[in-house]
Amino acid sequence: MAETFKAFVIKDVDGKPKGGFTTLTLADLPDNDVLVEVAYSTLNYKDGLAVSGKGRIARKLPMVAGIDLAGTVVESRSPDWKPGDKVVANGWGMSETQWGGYTRFQRLKAEWLTRLPDAFSLEEAMGIGTAGYTAALCVDALERWGAVRPGGKEVLVTGAAGGVGSVAVALLAKRGYPVVASTGRPETHDYLRGLGATGFIDRAVLLEKGAPLQKERWAGGVDSVGGQTLVNALSQTIWGGAIAACGLAGSSDLPGTVLPHILRSVALLGVDSVMAPQPLRDAAWARLARDMDKTALTAMYEVQPFDALPDLATRILAGQIRGRVVVDVTR
Ligand SMILES: NC(=O)c1ccc[n+]([C@@H]2O[C@H](COP(=O)([O-])OP(=O)(O)OC[C@H]3O[C@@H](n4cnc5c(N)ncnc54)[C@H](OP(=O)(O)O)[C@@H]3O)[C@@H](O)[C@H]2O)c1
Repeated sequence: MAETFKAFVIKDVDGKPKGGFTTLTLADLPDNDVLVEVAYSTLNYKDGLAVSGKGRIARKLPMVAGIDLAGTVVESRSPDWKPGDKVVANGWGMSETQWGGYTRFQRLKAEWLTRLPDAFSLEEAMGIGTAGYTAALCVDALERWGAVRPGGKEVLVTGAAGGVGSVAVALLAKRGYPVVASTGRPETHDYLRGLGATGFIDRAVLLEKGAPLQKERWAGGVDSVGGQTLVNALSQTIWGGAIAACGLAGSSDLPGTVLPHILRSVALLGVDSVMAPQPLRDAAWARLARDMDKTALTAMYEVQPFDALPDLATRILAGQIRGRVVVDVTR
């Protein structure tokens, strides 16, 4: 095992969070039960905020950033895990209150770990990452609500060319729902069609202020944008439909009315991946193992070296990342 290793750490510099590469030793890691040799992490929108320093994600410093990791158990004081087990961890406060995945080694609580599904390699699991696992939670929520059905009315995905959106399009299409992708990047239409989108709506259309009740179109939707986009999605949802909302890439506001909810029984299903209990995680990963087409997954992500992280963070905040980014922490 390496004596020293590289990690991306947010530190307090003159009262402000500032990120950079640092050398750590195993003795620096938190005293949790399971030591994992990390192979890959990912880049999510929240990681972009943390790495660039544009958002105060870490609630204590110093903090190893990175909300995802996939790797192999090296040592375990828990009966649930043994050396050699392949594991994934998403959320659980990593990068906020717990040290995260931008490192070669990390010590984690046993209950934060999810067994790597047989369907995926460590790299592929991070191709999915928090964004993809959140998309799966959203599709689970829509189906639990009974909002969507194969061959039924259209399902909307906003922020479609982003990480959550790409996986949501693929998972919904695989279930046989007609998927309309909302994107501000027409050049991604072929990519999204390849994932299973059958229709498109320009994101500018959903950003326009509209009537509280609009023409009913969507059986359901997955929204990672928030703000007026979410309000329009709700206003255009059919009686009894639902929108699963998980993101705020556009805005954290909700400038709408109660009318879709009280006159059309439209549900706004909030989805949080960070503290989702293990049974919901297991269900989401089982869905991904069953429904995530391998060719679609491969087309969806790029693998980037650890050193590229600061540049990648800038790009995701500028909306320039298509799909998902896997961060190879070994190079
Ligand atoms: N609740 C949770 O547990 C959870 C988990 C994961 C992510 N999230 C949140 O979900 C959101 C998406 O995450 P991600 O990793 O998919 O990020 P991402 O890859 O950057 O995708 C976000 C997409 O949103 C669209 N977008 C960006 N800025 C916009 C704007 N001003 N107006 C309208 N659309 C805009 C873009 O899609 P187009 O280019 O296609 O237009 C962009 O690709 C973030 O807010 C993130 O924090 C929440």
